Amino acid sequence: MRASIKIDLKNIISNIDNRIYGSFIEHLGRAVYGGIYEPDHPLSDESGWRSDVASLVKELSVPVIRYPGGNFVSGYNWEDGTGPVEQRPNKLELAWRTIETNEVGIDEFQEWTKKVGSSIMMAVNLGTRGADDARNLVEYCNLDTPTYYADMRRRNGFSDPFGIKLWCLGNEMDGPWQICAKTPTEYARLAHETAKVMKLVDPSIELVACGSAHKNMPTFGVWEETVLRECYDDIDYISLHNYYGNPTGDTRAFLACSLEMDAFIKEVAAIADRVKAEKGSDKTVNLSFDEWNVWFHSNDADKEIAPWQVAPPLLEDIYNLEDALVVGCLLITLLKNSDRVKIACLAQLVNVIAPIMTENATDGGRVWKQTIYYPYMLVSKFGRGEAVAVDLSCDSYHVESLGDVPYIESVAVRSGEYINVFVVNRSLDEDCTVDFNCTGSVIEHIVVTSESVNDINTADAETVRPVNVEIGDEIVLSAKSFNVIRIKM
Ligand code: AHR
Repeated sequence: MRASIKIDLKNIISNIDNRIYGSFIEHLGRAVYGGIYEPDHPLSDESGWRSDVASLVKELSVPVIRYPGGNFVSGYNWEDGTGPVEQRPNKLELAWRTIETNEVGIDEFQEWTKKVGSSIMMAVNLGTRGADDARNLVEYCNLDTPTYYADMRRRNGFSDPFGIKLWCLGNEMDGPWQICAKTPTEYARLAHETAKVMKLVDPSIELVACGSAHKNMPTFGVWEETVLRECYDDIDYISLHNYYGNPTGDTRAFLACSLEMDAFIKEVAAIADRVKAEKGSDKTVNLSFDEWNVWFHSNDADKEIAPWQVAPPLLEDIYNLEDALVVGCLLITLLKNSDRVKIACLAQLVNVIAPIMTENATDGGRVWKQTIYYPYMLVSKFGRGEAVAVDLSCDSYHVESLGDVPYIESVAVRSGEYINVFVVNRSLDEDCTVDFNCTGSVIEHIVVTSESVNDINTADAETVRPVNVEIGDEIVLSAKSFNVIRIKM
């Protein structure tokens, strides 16, 4: 198969907001306890943070990490995770039906994010709680005033405010599974009033309102419109969430799910712009795709996990090459839409539907990189700068639900004197020779592929990982591969 990719630097999509490479840590399963934090592990520091896990997080250069949920946040009392650790309560955690020990809370998590070179995207509880607790939390985190919650932070040992700039107004409040879910109108009013008081406390913060929990929610569209009409002037972003899966084993269709993500983004942007026009507003509300990933492998295993355990192994999807290619296509799609998507969070970061997996110290204590780690790392590393649309010509294949799907998915990023082109070859059996039409010469070609789309990584063997391809006369994209092609101008 042959394809052509023409890159004209006039076709700039956007100056990429690096927060598009964000991720997510929820108090869920072994993400926190047994993931980033395990005081009894031999590689943990004096604060209990696993240094082996922190190193892998740092390699990903994650600019922002959403915290503490997720569904968890809708039943969470943030004060439980502050102050002397020995006085913190064990609580029933209703979203995942576990026990939350509160050993880690905002006091600790903000220190960990600094350690890994990241920042926090903080969610407030709009399930069991509301505006009052949200404004108190903003004061606790961000203010230097001689007032109750800022004093409380100082008493807990933090004289300087944490300075958290990005905040989510609840999580998936349309989902029937959500603790204290809301109708569109109920949420819109609550989000509006909460946003107002949070910004009265700290006008410098940015706010993300909940969009639909996923594209197929029955109220999708109506929800966004209702929320945007009520909150347009108070918020900065509307959220999108979507997970993708291949429960029927149809790889060709699964590899095409990025076309669904593309359509979803464009629909939400269109709704936001319609509300903008109705209001005659000068302001553009952008998009925060703050939960995206592949999630389906662990569904059956999770049904077997007994309730009311501390940090049980929930949502521990083991990813294969196929999933890595999908994650590559989804990252390319986010970049292709980076004029509107300013924040995106790969959900999640450690153990829970995650690129990084750990064993607890009692089980061997190793850490390892899943297949999806690599496309995420490579795009985060080489995808900083200006996104450039490529002019692509290639063959297509047919998928019942989607129509024609191009075999090649691609976008370029101009980064200083380099053009870094990200390309996925969706063909399962044919290599593709690419004719590049671009000023400059190819200096590096990195490929992620393997023998079978079912190949996985484990703590013992890293089967799926990036390999540098020798540069020859032609650029050949292996069947079922994710590629970074670096051109020096
Ligand atoms: O990321 C796992 C869960 O998926 C989150 O808690 C929730 O927001 C979503 O439904």
